[in-house]
Amino acid sequence: MKALVLSGGSGTRLRPFSYSMPKQLIPIANKPVLEHVLENIRDLGVTEVGVIVGGWAQQITEVIGDGSRLGLRVTYIAQEEPLGLAHCVRLARPFLGDDDFVMYLGDNMLPDGVVPIAEEFAEHRPDAQVVVHKVPDPRAFGVVEMDAEGRVTRLVEKPREPRSDLALVGVYFFTAAVHRAVDSIEPSARGELEITDALQWLVTRGAEVRASEYGGYWKDTGRAEDVLECNRRLLEELRPGLAGEVDGRSEVDGRVVVEEGARVVRSRIEGPAIIGRGSVVEDSHVGPGTSVGRGCVLRDTRIAESIVLDGASISDVPGLYGSLIGRNATVGASARHRLVVGDHTRIEVAA
Ligand code: TTP
Repeated sequence: MKALVLSGGSGTRLRPFSYSMPKQLIPIANKPVLEHVLENIRDLGVTEVGVIVGGWAQQITEVIGDGSRLGLRVTYIAQEEPLGLAHCVRLARPFLGDDDFVMYLGDNMLPDGVVPIAEEFAEHRPDAQVVVHKVPDPRAFGVVEMDAEGRVTRLVEKPREPRSDLALVGVYFFTAAVHRAVDSIEPSARGELEITDALQWLVTRGAEVRASEYGGYWKDTGRAEDVLECNRRLLEELRPGLAGEVDGRSEVDGRVVVEEGARVVRSRIEGPAIIGRGSVVEDSHVGPGTSVGRGCVLRDTRIAESIVLDGASISDVPGLYGSLIGRNATVGASARHRLVVGDHTRIEVAA
């Protein structure tokens, strides 16, 4: 089996981050989402991975390289415009050949893994097997209807009146039967080749499409609040370790990682939290639920439930909460609110 990871797209919901980086490289517990995804794929025993990349190809290749660091062989497949998930399958045909493959959205986090579902697919080999997850309000998702034997009977994209509470998760298992489907469908009203249309095409023609329920934690990291929630969740599973320097006047409490080369001075770190390599935290209170990236500086600051990306500096801000601070950003204090705010940025100041 091969894997196809979708790491293009426009990421409009993650502006302004997506103006300068691909959303798949946003760090969760100090590791890019895409790396979490690739590790999950490796856990399936798959080593041949095609990665669809759009305009941010260079940043992605700089981080992932040829995949050998992760025990994978990565082939990059360029998509000039984000024309849909099924378009990605069309583009990847030369890479995929007639092999079975798992298609994985590069911004979806399933930390509990899909090994049992992959085994089920390998054993029964239906034409396609989708992964579903029960959600309280399915109206924002692709919704799957299935019979008592787990066969999919219908798929509806964002239905106003859903007939099931099973949402499509961003992981799909396919045999070569999908290629005729993606070649046969037309673009949807939003101009994209939809994978749900390809799946529905298979169902309508009597192909066997099965659904398996994933009962673990699932997050589509498409929006800032999803990224923060997922970060909190992953930090809770970190193996604590203090490889960096923590001075005698600092206090470390709970599940905390201080990476090598980081320095914590006269501060309190409240787990779950991680302080990245080469960062300096002075006279501050960090955590819980907070990741500080590499090469950051925090001084006289209180921050919780947040992610600070590499190279950012924060000083004299006593109440940061639920924040996502971009690479090399500077946050400081002043008597009045002085803001230099990029396009589509969201800021909330204390009233
Ligand atoms: P989405 O999150 O559905 O789309 P998007 O990246 O355009 O985001 P937004 O809605 O905020 O504008 O895409 C799911 C995953 O698939 C994501 O990792 C991006 C990737 N993708 C591609 O690689 N090519 C595509 O044509 C599309 C639509 C998505």
